[in-house]
Amino acid sequence: MPVPLLDLKAQFESIREEAMAAVLGVIESQRFIMGEQVPQLELAIASLSNTGHGIACASGTDALLLPLKALELKPEDEIITTPFSFFATAGTIANAGGKPVFVDIDPGTFNIDPDAVEAAITPNTRGIVPVHLFGQMAQMERMLRLAEQHGLVVIEDAAQAIGARRKIAGEWKAAGELGWVSAFSFFPSKNLGGWGDGGMMVTSDGSLAARLRLLRMHGGAKQYHHEEIGTNSRLDTLQAAVLLVKLGHLQDWAEGRRGQAAAYDAALAEIDGVTTPPVESANEHVYHQYTIRAERRDELKEHLARCAVSCAVYYPKPLHLQPCFAQLGYVEGSFPVAEAASREVLSLPVYPELTSDQRETVVNAIGGFYT
Ligand SMILES: Cc1ncc(COP(=O)(O)O)c(C=O)c1O
Repeated sequence: MPVPLLDLKAQFESIREEAMAAVLGVIESQRFIMGEQVPQLELAIASLSNTGHGIACASGTDALLLPLKALELKPEDEIITTPFSFFATAGTIANAGGKPVFVDIDPGTFNIDPDAVEAAITPNTRGIVPVHLFGQMAQMERMLRLAEQHGLVVIEDAAQAIGARRKIAGEWKAAGELGWVSAFSFFPSKNLGGWGDGGMMVTSDGSLAARLRLLRMHGGAKQYHHEEIGTNSRLDTLQAAVLLVKLGHLQDWAEGRRGQAAAYDAALAEIDGVTTPPVESANEHVYHQYTIRAERRDELKEHLARCAVSCAVYYPKPLHLQPCFAQLGYVEGSFPVAEAASREVLSLPVYPELTSDQRETVVNAIGGFYT
């Protein structure tokens, strides 16, 4: 039985009628740009993340880039982030005119290591971009404390973590809630994925929200008047309509993902050669990815492909070793934990529509490889 890494067709079948009706509604209205579904989605995502304002934009990448641009970075300004993430996390820092400063990660969660962040702070540091990798929140309480001590901003890269929570001082805090501003991605494969590109910034800072609204629409509140140089980074009404439908299912889907993960945890614990992903006790994971560490990872991946099981390596080359960042001076060995993760990680199919037969196929194929 073939097992795809993700089955968006199965997801579509489960929401076909409501999603098609929502799309048809937009087509009938012919309000493709900034139709009513866009502010509706902004309100809904702000509410989900316990923030005051949502500002929709064209992608998760822009949801990071626009706030970084709002910082008006100079070339010597440093933003500390993780080398074990999708390219946009660091690419946007450079594109906004600043200098990405990488630090190593925690070997368990793969998230940025707060001690390493602290050690990397210099007089040029302006901010920290923690990533809630694979759907598990980074240690935000440590990031916030460092930011307060050193006068920095925290921009949460919550692209993979919509709906995730972390208990801090006895209170649940949502992904996106604690940053100066936070970025979500609606890339189709995300837990809340559109039918194309899309993103959202959330913040509780009203004046920042107003500024981001300007920046995503050519820098002007009034048509043909431009207070600053912005860009076109709107979210299409069609995407907002689809996302509003999907948002109604997000909680159930997250439960489904957690159920799949728990079943994998139990089944894979029996197999030598595999380490299942630990969850910090403070965290409620949303399993955008279920990522194991595996001995002989590349051979295992080939074996799984022969068994018709799709899996993926996120991420095979850490960001500090990417050729485009060579001028930053990092070398092999700069961040051994991130580098080891790149050699060992493997993400398995974890979507809610995965059947128990399919999951067993994955587990049996992995077991077959190691016995
Ligand atoms: C951690 C992380 N940051 C940023 C992004 C960028 O989002 P997008 O692809 O919507 O531009 C992604 C998604 O691809 C991501 O996984």
